[in-house]
Amino acid sequence: MHGMHARLPKNFVLEERLERYGQVIELDPALWRGRWGEACAPLGARSFSEVRLDLGCGKGAFAIEAARREPDVLFVAMDSEPVCVAYAAQHVCESGLPNVVVVPGNGMRVREFFSPGELSRIYLNFPTPFPRKRDAGKRMACMERLLDFRDVLSAGAEVRLRTDSQPLFDFMLTQVPLAGYDLLWTSRDARADFPDEPSSEYEERLGAQGACVYALAATPGELPEHIEQTAELSLAEYLPHDLAELESLGYAPHGMQATVVNLRNRASRKAAREATS
Ligand SMILES: C[S@@+](CC[C@H](N)C(=O)[O-])C[C@H]1O[C@@H](n2cnc3c(N)ncnc32)[C@H](O)[C@@H]1O
Repeated sequence: MHGMHARLPKNFVLEERLERYGQVIELDPALWRGRWGEACAPLGARSFSEVRLDLGCGKGAFAIEAARREPDVLFVAMDSEPVCVAYAAQHVCESGLPNVVVVPGNGMRVREFFSPGELSRIYLNFPTPFPRKRDAGKRMACMERLLDFRDVLSAGAEVRLRTDSQPLFDFMLTQVPLAGYDLLWTSRDARADFPDEPSSEYEERLGAQGACVYALAATPGELPEHIEQTAELSLAEYLPHDLAELESLGYAPHGMQATVVNLRNRASRKAAREATS
């Protein structure tokens, strides 16, 4: 998790925690490919009605609250950061919920962890934006990942994004049709539009700083004959370019504060040049 190591408590011993909360952690997710629903079902129950993935789950608050509300659904909470896995597992243990499993895993490898049609939903909650063009390949909200997700989603399944980042949201809007998905809905103020949705740690934290939540849901449609990345990959391209609009941006998306300042300076220098010439 971005900046998390800086906030690690002094006595935090990762191995100890991973062991202490090990009963809710699945260290080898590929092992359960194709049988998550049955393998994780509570004693006596045959299977869960659905399996959903919280990809980049962080400390797990969203998955836990969602799991509390939908006991028939198995939530797989996955993160590539061991520290997040440890925290999420602690919170799952404390919740006592039988329908969340925490998994260390990289979103680049979902097809190794889930079989075709196994997932009914993938949540991308505040995914790391990786704003620079050269890091675009690491984004979860991009065409390549959406193409991967097609292989593990069931008919009518959804990919849902929630983010504080207007540029990442607008970028994903370009990726949805490129990967042959149909947009189900979008919201530029999801907290107002869906006040009852569970919120994640980032949502709470950034919301308190004035962030708006952008959200969308998309479902796999017909695969385009020709698949090609045609969108601008730098998220800076998706920020407003107009000085007045940049100045009116009260909140700069997480991870893009410096970019916003640079663009603002550039735009005001340009305005000053134009005024003197
Ligand atoms: C900004 S945090 C959001 C965490 C949580 N979803 C929330 O909303 O509070 C992004 C998370 O995605 C995880 N992440 C980034 N790239 C990943 C990847 N390729 N696979 C799995 N997790 C990833 C990070 O470790 C981090 O915990």
